[in-house]
Amino acid sequence: MEIVVTLDQMRFWHESWRRVGKTVALVPTMGALHAGHLALVAKAAEIADKVVVSIFVNPLQFGPSEDFSRYPRDLTLDLEKLAHLGKADLIFNPSVEVMYPGGTSLTTVVVGEMSQVLCGRSRPTHFAGVTTVVTKLLHIVQPDVAVFGQKDAQQLAIIRQMVHDLNFPVKVVGVATVREPSGLALSSRNRYLSPEEKEKASYLYQGLKAAETLFQRGERRAEVLVAWVKNTLAEADLSAEYVECVDFESLRPVEIIERPVTLALAAYVGTARLIDNITLDPGH
Ligand code: PAJ
Repeated sequence: MEIVVTLDQMRFWHESWRRVGKTVALVPTMGALHAGHLALVAKAAEIADKVVVSIFVNPLQFGPSEDFSRYPRDLTLDLEKLAHLGKADLIFNPSVEVMYPGGTSLTTVVVGEMSQVLCGRSRPTHFAGVTTVVTKLLHIVQPDVAVFGQKDAQQLAIIRQMVHDLNFPVKVVGVATVREPSGLALSSRNRYLSPEEKEKASYLYQGLKAAETLFQRGERRAEVLVAWVKNTLAEADLSAEYVECVDFESLRPVEIIERPVTLALAAYVGTARLIDNITLDPGH
């Protein structure tokens, strides 16, 4: 497993792989790796010859009052986990100065209205930060495939749209959310939770599952499913920032579910802002 930190080193590797006809998959991460990230790396290894994992806490996607400075960073442990998994070939771990010489990027990539809904309402600049850094990573690493988690459903839909709109020569692959036995979606931010908060946080998924049960019994009205989730959360004394049912691809609001939708929520548990979602597909 090679670890590279500069653009020239990264270029050296992708050019040498390209020369011998190897396909490359990129798994972008911000580190503090857990089993969810590792599932992405394992998927990447299944679908490409070489796997690059980027580890970069991207300042551009954090708002001024968000947790950029306290976001967990533990490169040594991350490298141990990746070495133990044995499926990553190269770790790209650039500094902020390498990614943003002079401190910022005058050019940004913004996927219009999709970035302003759901989490975009309370984090208005977040997705522009994500799409800008992902664009840079795709240009630097030049992978054939890029792998993202369904855990961040809005991020994944936005990246798919960007790749489509701007003709990026890359295939985007989504991987199902990895969860704790309680149902809580794994997240680097779960380490902000006390044991009691962690138990409370498991109700987020239980709320989504309760709505899924209704859906499986034939309920197709989005507002009924959303109300059901909110009730389950209220029973656990949780109040969501949002619970919404949106089209799986466009993220537009849905009233009657006739195509796959994402039922998504965000909620604060203690100081941690957690998100979760499930897909409801009337065709299944
Ligand atoms: P990060 O939060 O580190 O997540 C990296 C990738 O892991 C994302 O594609 C995310 O959806 C996926 N992931 C996180 N938790 C998961 C889980 N429980 N199950 C499955 N996949 C999971 O998302 C980012 O970083 C950044 O925005 C990034 C794309 C790297 C751009 O900076």
